[in-house]
Amino acid sequence: MTNADFERIVDTTDDWIVSRTGIRERRIADNGTSTSDMAVAACQEALKMSGCSHEEIDLLILGTVTPDYRLPSCACVVQEKMGLPNAAAFDVVSACTGFINGLSIANSYIASGHAKKALIVGVEKLSAIVNYKDRNTCVLFGDGAGAAVVAGDDSGRGVLSTFMRSDGKMREMLWIKAGGTTHQYSAEHAASGADKVLMNGSEIFKVAVKEMANAVWHVMEDAGIDQSQVSLVVPHQANIRIIEALARRLKVDKDKVYINISKYGNTSAASVPIALDEAYREGRIKEGDHIVMVAFGGGLIWGSALVKW
Ligand code: UT7
Repeated sequence: MTNADFERIVDTTDDWIVSRTGIRERRIADNGTSTSDMAVAACQEALKMSGCSHEEIDLLILGTVTPDYRLPSCACVVQEKMGLPNAAAFDVVSACTGFINGLSIANSYIASGHAKKALIVGVEKLSAIVNYKDRNTCVLFGDGAGAAVVAGDDSGRGVLSTFMRSDGKMREMLWIKAGGTTHQYSAEHAASGADKVLMNGSEIFKVAVKEMANAVWHVMEDAGIDQSQVSLVVPHQANIRIIEALARRLKVDKDKVYINISKYGNTSAASVPIALDEAYREGRIKEGDHIVMVAFGGGLIWGSALVKW
């Protein structure tokens, strides 16, 4: 969907969307495509790139807030569709930080010897939970999936440090009020839009910049890596102004920060792995590079990971 498509359904303009968010297009899955279908497409590609067999994957972690079903987990659906006979599979509900939290969990499992090869996927069909009558939110979000295989070795490369934080006091800044057990689904809720994404964007903006910067500094300090050794920052793509403010706060050149928001909008848990994949395919990530991933979203939850590629 382009910004021109949104000009036809809500009171907005291409100029407002581009100048306030940096978004020009987003991908919207059709009705017949489920979250697990997108996850499978990304996971197949990741497995192929890694050279791992389906049998070798012993952990599948799926980050999403838009699972196929309330029960079972989307990870179990993906496990069946992929054919991963030896994988423990579960979802993490960490919104935009889903991929990074998944990576952090996988790293801990592998480091402790509880898993050998993990498949991590961030995937969202946000079009299913966005209110296309609310101009404050509908122009921001898109659908997508990204995946990675993580395996242990003793080369010194890999995940050097991860960081995860949350603050549930701020949960109502980005939430779906109705449909869970606190406010069970009702026709009134549906009519008022309470069963769709609600967001206080300007408040989140301020917390996002501050905490993403803190998260980046945390993993650099933990790994003993200084800023000059970081080749690329791969941030969650929620708003170009958030990414630019983050770069200024970190005192990092903008060309060391990967940005692809114009094509996809905010894809929540899928945003970091999609950006990571595109950066890699564009030759912006080389063996031995230090890469910092960082994300922030509903919960509120934020986190980061420093990887030696
Ligand atoms: O994924 C992780 C979590 N989410 C985020 O990190 C999102 C963080 N927040 C943001 O990206 C920005 O706050 C937004 C893009 C959501 C909004 O930008 P803003 O500069 O903070 O705008 P605002 O909310 O302060 O609204 C400014 C004005 C308002 O009009 P009034 O009240 O000043 O007359 C809005 O009604 O812009 C209006 N507005 C729009 N106008 C045209 C809001 N959405 C639109 C729209 N088109 N689509």
